[in-house]
Amino acid sequence: MCGIVGYIGNKEALPILVKGLRRLEYRGYDSAGVAVAHGGNIKRVRAVGKIDNLADKLQSEKVPGTFGIAHTRWATHGGVTEENAHPHSDCTGKIIVAHNGIIENYRELQHNLLVGHTFVSKTDTEILAHLIEAFYQDSVKPANTPLPPSEGGMAATGDLRTAVEKALRKVRGTYGLVVMHQDHPDTLIAARLGSPLVIGVGDHEYFVASDTSPMLAYTQQVVFLDDGELAEITPNGFQIYNLHSQRVHKQSEQIDWNESEAEKNGLPHFMLKEIFDQPTVIKDALRGRLVEDDGTAHLGGLNMGEVEMRSVNRVILIACGTASYAAMVGKYAFERLAGIPTEVEVASEFRYRDPILDNHTLVFGISQSGETADTIAALREAKRKGAFVRGVVNVIGSTIARETDGGTYIHAGPEMAVASTKAYTNMIAVLVMYALQFGRLRRVTVATGERLVKAFREISVKMEQALQTSDKVKQIVEKYQGHKNFLFLGRGVNFPVALEGSLKLKEITYIHSEAYPGGEMKHGPIALLSPEFPVVAIMTKNQLYDKMRSNIEEIRARKAPIILIATEGDEAAKELADDVIYVPPTMELLEPIINTIPLQLFAYHMAVLLGKDVDRPRNLAKSVTVE
Ligand code: F6R
Repeated sequence: MCGIVGYIGNKEALPILVKGLRRLEYRGYDSAGVAVAHGGNIKRVRAVGKIDNLADKLQSEKVPGTFGIAHTRWATHGGVTEENAHPHSDCTGKIIVAHNGIIENYRELQHNLLVGHTFVSKTDTEILAHLIEAFYQDSVKPANTPLPPSEGGMAATGDLRTAVEKALRKVRGTYGLVVMHQDHPDTLIAARLGSPLVIGVGDHEYFVASDTSPMLAYTQQVVFLDDGELAEITPNGFQIYNLHSQRVHKQSEQIDWNESEAEKNGLPHFMLKEIFDQPTVIKDALRGRLVEDDGTAHLGGLNMGEVEMRSVNRVILIACGTASYAAMVGKYAFERLAGIPTEVEVASEFRYRDPILDNHTLVFGISQSGETADTIAALREAKRKGAFVRGVVNVIGSTIARETDGGTYIHAGPEMAVASTKAYTNMIAVLVMYALQFGRLRRVTVATGERLVKAFREISVKMEQALQTSDKVKQIVEKYQGHKNFLFLGRGVNFPVALEGSLKLKEITYIHSEAYPGGEMKHGPIALLSPEFPVVAIMTKNQLYDKMRSNIEEIRARKAPIILIATEGDEAAKELADDVIYVPPTMELLEPIINTIPLQLFAYHMAVLLGKDVDRPRNLAKSVTVE
């Protein structure tokens, strides 16, 4: 939540910062701002609303300079106003900060330490600018207590890095932070605790951002800051310290994402592009991980020997939102293939229970961003209690990827739309492969393993076929566009598909929808049904086909319109439903990968038809880095 970009180098900073903000807009889009240093001054421009509003405002402003910072906001403390937009400044206007995270003790600091300072916003962030101001002033004129506001201009003799370090030692909470000072036009300070920050290493130029996407056009050499680290960056290099001024030595690493993956490639929305990316990126998730001859999968990053793998008697899959629905498919796979009791836990609940874990429990944290605060906290708790903790993550170098003792990248590439699509299908692929790998050490025969490996090999082509339903889905959406409620139904592995279809619809169209297991209908939800309450049901040919079919009959008797996702060639589906979307058959455990695609398209086409902002739905941010 909230995106930060910083640049210091030899190019004009403003275009790099604004382009970077556009890349990070998925992290928040309430308001945005930039600050650029030039000729001994800092120019700060902020605007409420999306980056376009800021860009429009910048058209009439001259903002030269090769050093600057920028921010796109998802409001936590303080309403959506220009005063509350970042970057914020201290009393003198010389110290400028952009921050992602929450400073929990900001009121306490304001009243106890910063008496006399003038605050102009209602944010927690502004406290940082004033704290740095006070410690900076202190470094010019030592031993001033309590910490005073600056009087008049400040000399450039202060120690900016130490001032930031001292300020950060006073705060409680989380931050990804960039700081600039008018009198230090060759120094950018970046610091991290709980909110991600990456340094991009160019040729006499450096970038700082909340993720790698703003820097991919310029460099693929990056350094991920860890919690408690602070970087001092100049056009000639950077040095990393802990908050006690001790040097931390880190090597830059090469990332294999490239800029074109973060582009729309001519399509109107990132979400559509990402839905259509799925057959390609699933191959990246599978590549090198399927072992044909043994009918198994091998995910090397697991970092567990066979003895340890056999010692696992319980699996817990921890995630939020869409990732938790992928995890539900993982549960079916682990139980069916490996015979290991498996639970899915929503991270925000898990972290506040007293979970019973031991060294026979294997916990996976599943996350596209790898930065979801609740998932991170839950995994830390699991680690503390002695479980094996592994990650299933998309974003390279993210917190979960770094804090877990192993795991697997899902290789979906940058996912820019707020609504997750390709990460979900790749998560399922990885979890089913894990289940196969464990299953082959336990009860899965080589023949069954080979069948699953073969189904995996065919999955990309089948996903292409499922994408061909797009026009048909669009026609159906046109027919149902006036409806205010939808019910999604599925059974077995298709219950998570129903949940995901429902979530996609509500988050990007704001239409109310619910999702239930088909068999649960008659225990309550069936009372909702009427000709105004359409049902979208997944009734593909698997072991629960007949059961699902009976549930559909029950709905038909209540005269609710029925839209069915059915297996190609199933003529009976036409008799039952008002509309049918046919998808190709696959092995049951892989059905969610295919069956979710028309539901992603359903939500997408509905959102477009209703004129909604598909990629940036209201109130949401992609990476939920606060509790
Ligand atoms: C829905 C969506 C969210 C995320 C959830 C977890 O489309 O994107 O529900 O799935 O916030 O995010 P990650 O996977 O980054 O942990």
